[in-house]
Order: sequence, then structure tokens, then C-alpha cells
Amino acid sequence: MEALHPDVSEVILSEEDIKSIVSRMGAEITRDYKDKNPLLVTVLKGAVIFTADIMRAIDCPVAVDFMAVSSYGDGVKSSGVVRILKDLDAKIEGRDVLIVEDILDSGITLSYLIKMLESRNPKSVKVAAFLVKDVEGKKPAVHPEYVGTHVPDAFIVGYGLDYAERYRNLPYIGVLKPEVYS
Ligand code: PRP
Ligand code: MN
Ligand code: MG
Repeated sequence: MEALHPDVSEVILSEEDIKSIVSRMGAEITRDYKDKNPLLVTVLKGAVIFTADIMRAIDCPVAVDFMAVSSYGDGVKSSGVVRILKDLDAKIEGRDVLIVEDILDSGITLSYLIKMLESRNPKSVKVAAFLVKDVEGKKPAVHPEYVGTHVPDAFIVGYGLDYAERYRNLPYIGVLKPEVYS
């Protein structure tokens, strides 16, 4: 095992944990989307690593396209405003769309995206979220059809998740030490 990054206090999901979650999700998606040729919509940038893994765990024809949106910028709290930095290339009318996200936190990003994509008349819009953050006393605004696992209410990084664009390349999910961002 590689050494823990000095800015990380604990590992929440190891590479092994991630692998087994991804293959379970891939099997679920394969079962539901056989014969549907879905369009996977990656939400850049955070979902880039999860997308690369999950698409290889899906055993049926899929296409992939990319949207770039940002609501956190360099902070640790959502700005509350979702900015579209890049729209899809593909037309999604009549297609089965599966949004691929790294994490559902406040739900602002996904609620916004679902609404926006649904307005383009796809056949269906569903969500595969690798992580769902559990915040005490808060009901999630979105219920993804496919969930990797739930994580506690801490600022986590790695496997695509950043703080100020750093740490996306960590191969595990870890808790960022508070002194790094405060
Ligand atoms: C992060 C993360 C999700 C979103 C989740 O993206 O990748 O897309 O926030 O938070 P929410 O449920 O509170 O909206 P971010 O805005 O940091 O952009 P990034 O993917 O480029 O890092
Ligand atoms: Mn994101
Ligand atoms: Mg981010």
C-alpha cells in the first residue's frame, strides 16, 4: 500500500473498496441497460475517474459524453450556483441518459442537471452517484438510482474529488485535514 498523503487524516475507501463497489454498480447498470445503448453523461471534472472505471465495468454498448459544471470553485462550501462550463456535444432527445457523478452532497448540482437534461426530452434520465454524503437532519434533494456508498459529513478528497483542484489523483477516498482548508 502506498503511503498516506500528508494532508489526509484517514482513508474512507481504499482502492480495493472502490474496485468492489464499481464492479457491483457496473453489474446493476448492465442488467438495467442491456439493449438500451445509454448515453453516460460525465459531470466534469470530479466524475472523470469514476467514469473511466464504471464504463469498463458495464458489459453492454454505451456511449459517453461530457458536461463540465462547477459550484464549489476553490471553496469547501457550494456557492449555491451551478455554472455550466461545457455543454454536451450529443443530442439527447429520445435517449436513455445516465448521469455519472462522483458525489451527491447538497444535491444542488444534480437537481440542476436533471432538470436541465429533462427539458431536452430524453427517453429517461437516471443517476449513478459513486458517493452520497449523509448530513444529519438533511434529506437528500435527489435520489440516485445507483449509489456506490454513503460517506459521513466530512470534507473528502481523492478518486476525482478535489479541494481547490488538488488531490483528484489520489487513488483512494480520504478525509482532508481541516488545517489544510481553514
Ligand atoms: C463537486 C462534485 C459534485 C458536486 C456535489 O463538484 O464533483 O459535482 O460538487 O456537490 P453538491 O451536491 O453540493 O452540488 P465541483 O463543483 O467541486 O466541481 P468539480 O467536479 O469540477 O470539482
Ligand atoms: Mn463535480
Ligand atoms: Mg470540486
